[in-house]
Amino acid sequence: MARNRAHESWNAPTIRLLCRAMTDSIESHQKEVGRFPPPPAFSAAARIASHAAYAEKHAKSLEDPESFWREETQDLVFRTRFREGAFEEWKLPHAKFFGGATLNVSESCLDRHLTTSARTRAAIVWEGEPGDTRTLTYFELHREVVRLSAALADLGVRAGDRVAIYMGMVPEAAIAMLACARLGATHSVIFGGFSSEALRDRINDCSAKVLLTQDGAWRRGHVIPLKQMADIALEKTPTIEHVVVVKRVGTSHAVAKMHEGRDVWWEDLLARTPSPGARELATTPPAFDAEHPLFILYTSGSTGKPKGVLHTSAGYLASVHVTSKYVFDLKESDLYWCTADVGWVTGHSYIVYGPLSCGASCFMYEGAPNAPDWGRFWSLIEKHGVTILYTAPTAIRAFIRAGDGWPQKHNLQSLRLLGSVGEPINPEAWLWYHRVVGAGRCPIVDTWWQTETGSILLTTLPGACFSKPGATGLPMFGVDIAVVKDHGEECKPNEGGKLVIRRPWPSMARTLWNDGPRFHEAYFSQIEGVYFTGDGARRDEDGYFWVVGRIDDVLNVAGHRIGTAEIESALVSHGSVAEAAAVGRPDALKGQALVVFVTLKTGITSDRTLKESLAHHIDKEIGKFARPDEIRFTDALPKTRSGKIMRRLLKEVASGTESRGDTSTLEDLSVLAKLRADDE
Ligand code: PRX
Repeated sequence: MARNRAHESWNAPTIRLLCRAMTDSIESHQKEVGRFPPPPAFSAAARIASHAAYAEKHAKSLEDPESFWREETQDLVFRTRFREGAFEEWKLPHAKFFGGATLNVSESCLDRHLTTSARTRAAIVWEGEPGDTRTLTYFELHREVVRLSAALADLGVRAGDRVAIYMGMVPEAAIAMLACARLGATHSVIFGGFSSEALRDRINDCSAKVLLTQDGAWRRGHVIPLKQMADIALEKTPTIEHVVVVKRVGTSHAVAKMHEGRDVWWEDLLARTPSPGARELATTPPAFDAEHPLFILYTSGSTGKPKGVLHTSAGYLASVHVTSKYVFDLKESDLYWCTADVGWVTGHSYIVYGPLSCGASCFMYEGAPNAPDWGRFWSLIEKHGVTILYTAPTAIRAFIRAGDGWPQKHNLQSLRLLGSVGEPINPEAWLWYHRVVGAGRCPIVDTWWQTETGSILLTTLPGACFSKPGATGLPMFGVDIAVVKDHGEECKPNEGGKLVIRRPWPSMARTLWNDGPRFHEAYFSQIEGVYFTGDGARRDEDGYFWVVGRIDDVLNVAGHRIGTAEIESALVSHGSVAEAAAVGRPDALKGQALVVFVTLKTGITSDRTLKESLAHHIDKEIGKFARPDEIRFTDALPKTRSGKIMRRLLKEVASGTESRGDTSTLEDLSVLAKLRADDE
C-alpha cells in the first residue's frame, strides 16, 4: 500500500509555526482587550438604552414569561390569542408555546403592514451580481406572495405538505418561503451550494411535493446551473410532482430543460388565472395552530445523516420578531443588510421572517463579496445607503486580508450598527470591523445562536450594554443559559465548560424530521434536564459569555457547519477508500480548516490524481463548500482498543501540536508515531 505523503505545499516547520500562531490567537481570543460602551448618540435613540433596562426586561421575561410574551407580541397578528396558563406546562424538552393560539405567519410579515406607512416602504431592495436591481414594497411583496400562494394551491399544495426550495439569493426565494407559510405548507430551503446528491437526499427525507428553483444563479461572474443540478436530483425523487423554475439568468447563460407535465416557468405559472378556491385561500389565508410546522432546515450533526431541524409557527415568529427589533434596533429609516444566504438559518430568521415581521427594509444581494473585486460590499453600502450590516467573521477576516483600501475608497457613513454571526470573532477582526468599517462610531453586536435555537440567544443590545471584543455577550429575553460541568453543575466565573440552556425558549426546534428519538439523543441526553448546544464556553465575572466553539464532532469551516460523520461517509463511498476520519485544524482565515485522513483499499496507490478525485467526490456528494483543505493518506488510523477513531490525536497531528492527552487506550502506538513521522 502507498505510503502517506507529507503536506505537499508547506513543510512541517512552517505548519508548526502557523499552528502555534493560531493557538496563540485562540488563547488571545479568550483575553479581554477592552470594553466598548454604546455610543451615547446611539443609546439616545435606542429602543433599550441602558444596561439596567435590559436587565429588568430580561428578569421579567424569566419571572413572568406569559405577560412578557403577551406584551412583546402585540404587534404580531394572531387570530386567536393564547390561553391563560399556557406557560405552566412549559418544561424542557417540550417547548409548546402560546398553546391555544392560532395564526398565519405570513400575515405578521406582510398583511399587517398594508394598513400602515410600511405599505409603500421597500420591503426588499435587491441587487443582482451583474448590477441589476429590483425593489419590492410591502404592498408589492404581499401581492407577489398572494399570487404564488394561489398558484401553488392550484398545483395541489396543501397545508402540511413539504415544499423544497433550491435557489440563490433572489427575491423569489423570500416570496417562495412566505407563500408556503401562507398555505401552511412546510418549506425546506436547500442551500444553492449543495450538490445534486445532497439536494436529492433532503428532498427524499422530507418527501417534498414541489420544488421551487431557478435556471441559474450568478456567482463570481459564472452561472451555477441550479436547474440542471436539480434535474440530476429529480431522477430519484419520487415524491416531487411539480417543479417551478424562476428565469433568472436566461437561456443564453444556462439551458434549463423543461420536463413536460412536471416543470413550469415561474412567470408562466403566475400568469395563469387561479381557480376561485385558490384565490380565496391566498387572499384570506387560513389560521393554523401555534405549533403548526413552518419549516424544516437540514443541518449537520455529530453523527449520521443531516438533521432536519423542525421549527413551528408562533414561537419561532415571536422570537425572531423580538430579537430583530431589539438586537438590530430596527427603525423605519433603516436599510438593513444581512449578508447570509437564505439557505441557512440566518437567512430564514434575519433576512425573511424577523425583519419583515418588523416592517423593516431589507437589502439583499445575489453575489459574492469579492466579485468583481473586494470593494463590492462597500460600494453596495454606499450606493444603497445601508445602515445596518450583519455578516460573518470569515468575511471580515477576508476583508482584512484584502486591505483597508477597499472600504476606505467608499463613503460608509450611512452605517450605524454592525453585527457578527456564525463563528467566534477574534478580537483582531472585531477591532478592525469597529475601526475601519464602523469608523469607531457603530456598536457591534456579536450574536450567538444555532439552527436549532431559531433566533439569537446571546448578544449585547447595541444601545444598552458595553461590548467586549471576542465575547458574545448576555442572554436575550426569555433565555436561561449557563456554562456547566459534565454533570450539570454550574461552572465558576471564567471556568470553561459546556454551554447549555435550562428552560424552553419560544423558537426552540421542536424535533428532527423523521427522527424524534435522535432529537432527544442529540440535545437532551448528555446532561439531565437541559438542552446541550454542542459548544464549549465560559462566563466571565461580568456575566458575559465567551463561546469557544464546537466541542462535539461538528466543524465550523468559514461559518459553514460541517459534520465530520458526513464527510467521512462521503469519502468511504468512494471506491478507493477503506476508512476516513475528518478533523478540524485552526485556520487564520476560516476559523477552522477541514483535514481528512484516509486509508485506501488494498492495492490502491495514493497520488495527486486520487486526491483530486476525492475532492471532486466531496463536491459531488455534498457540495464545493465542504471540500477538504487537506487530504492525508495514511496506512492506518489511530484507534482505541474498542475500535473508536481517536479524533483528538488526529486533531493534534493535523495542527502539529504536541500531544498533551492520554494515549493509554490507543490500540497501536506505532500508528500515531507514524502519522507524526510522516509530518516531518
Ligand atoms: O458553534 C456555534 C457557532 O455556530 C454554531 C451553529 O451553527 P449553525 O447552526 O450553522 O448556525 C449558524 C448561524 C446562527 C454554534 O453552535 N456560532 C454561531 N454564532 C456564533 C458561534 N460561535 C461563536 N460566536 C458566535 N457569535
